[in-house]
Amino acid sequence: MELDEQCKEVIEKTEWVSITTSSEIGPHTVAAWGYRLRKIGIRDGVIVLPAGKYIQTENNLKKDSRIQLLIASGEVHRTEGKKGQGYRISGRGEIQLEGAMADLVKAEFPWARGALVARIEKIEALIS
Ligand SMILES: Cc1cc2nc3c(=O)[nH]c(=O)nc-3n(C[C@H](O)[C@H](O)[C@H](O)COP(=O)(O)O)c2cc1C
Repeated sequence: MELDEQCKEVIEKTEWVSITTSSEIGPHTVAAWGYRLRKIGIRDGVIVLPAGKYIQTENNLKKDSRIQLLIASGEVHRTEGKKGQGYRISGRGEIQLEGAMADLVKAEFPWARGALVARIEKIEALIS
């Protein structure tokens, strides 16, 4: 999954990330701070975030692994003279409580119980 330069810049500057999963009763949105996303970064098309809680999110992903993340920054130059861009990142996610990703996250964030791992399938810029 190749990220274009504008998307990389938004990842560098987004203050937070919204994370949406689905349940029988509807969508469920949680969040992560952007600096936590940047700590591990996006590796081989996979986003890794520290799971402190994300309990409902974990339950949702067990039944339906589809996940959407939103990142945005008003500071990124979109086109000549215009600022602001955001991306909807769609993919499949799970909470991993052990294994390489969980170890990586716990080394950086000792409070984490595991890793939220999202494999990217699609990235769309939301402002034209
Ligand atoms: C800006 C922001 C950053 C957050 N960062 C994290 C985080 O890195 N890890 C985490 O587990 N929860 C984080 N939270 C809390 C979650 O969004 C969520 O409320 C909590 O984990 C409960 O998840 P659940 O509703 O899926 O059980 C953050 C919340 C906000 C508003």
